Amino acid sequence: MSKLIYVLNGPNLNLLGKRQPEIYGHETLADVEERMRKKAATLDLTIEFFQSNYEGAIVEKIHEAREKADGIIINPAAYTHTSVAILDALNAFDNPVVELHISNVHKREAFRHHSFVSARAEAVMAGFGTLGYELALEYFK
Ligand code: DQA
Repeated sequence: MSKLIYVLNGPNLNLLGKRQPEIYGHETLADVEERMRKKAATLDLTIEFFQSNYEGAIVEKIHEAREKADGIIINPAAYTHTSVAILDALNAFDNPVVELHISNVHKREAFRHHSFVSARAEAVMAGFGTLGYELALEYFK
């Protein structure tokens, strides 16, 4: 049976393609979702794609994943650097977690160098641009 991977995106990623394209590129989140769906099909994976600007909504989606998902790919966006609640929710999830950032956060401001989520993630990706989303699927094949 094909594995179900939850792909979770945090705040402001709904503006992908319009927001600071020099950092995050020109692709929209809908473009990313479409490319991921195509790639997932080649790897016999199914994806549930989700974005929210609200921390609690992301926490609840992780709770839902506990019952359903074989893995999570998460770009927590700004919550990466602030959210113990998202870390705690991920700690209550038993399958693998891949943390993903479009930009290389380590090359940017110091406040982006710390991630609460990295303490939980099996793998961390940063700086591959939106291509990273497709590459992250390979982890679960
Ligand atoms: C980001 C990096 C974060 O520091 C930032 O707050 C984001 C996006 C990235 O994908 O590069 O919103 O997670």
